[in-house]
Amino acid sequence: MTALKLIISESQIQEGVGRLAQQIRADYQDQPLLVVGVLHGSFVFLSDLIRRMDLPIQVDFVRVSSYGELAQSSGKVRLHHGIRTSVVGKNVLVVDDIVDTGLTAQFLRGYFEGRRASTVRICSLLDKPARRRTAVTVDYTGFEVPDQFLVGYGLDYNQQYRELRALYSLEAGTDGS
Ligand code: PRP
Repeated sequence: MTALKLIISESQIQEGVGRLAQQIRADYQDQPLLVVGVLHGSFVFLSDLIRRMDLPIQVDFVRVSSYGELAQSSGKVRLHHGIRTSVVGKNVLVVDDIVDTGLTAQFLRGYFEGRRASTVRICSLLDKPARRRTAVTVDYTGFEVPDQFLVGYGLDYNQQYRELRALYSLEAGTDGS
């Protein structure tokens, strides 16, 4: 048995998303932006964020994996689906739900810089610094979170819970299972 414990409420998330959207709008000042979502975890956050940024944007997605079906990072990032849009000379904003070890963010920064983007910035709703394995710059962060397994608002456990409006930690039941 597992239980869900509320960590960040729906209204707190929406406040955080609004704050990030404002910062991004202030920094880019009407410059066009290519927003790249990292599937699958980012899709809920990305759809809320882009509707509040009020900037001329394009949207594309990449799919990478660093966890597979495991709760522990394998330490490797695999690109399963790359970008379809040309990034040459563009401002790229990578949008992810969480930066954990930092390996995904670091990999994607290199990926877009290698494709000659003009600028590459990373925006993550959540940051879990306790798990960092590489010193990657995260340009925009909504919330710093403790080292707990989180679900909801796009984050999953075995593909479940992504639809929840708030963020929860997944706790083992009292019987230890
Ligand atoms: C998660 C999350 C980030 C990445 C962060 O994705 O969405 O993309 O891991 O971890 P890192 O900082 O240790 O690299 P996951 O591989 O769980 O896939 P999902 O988004 O499809 O759930």
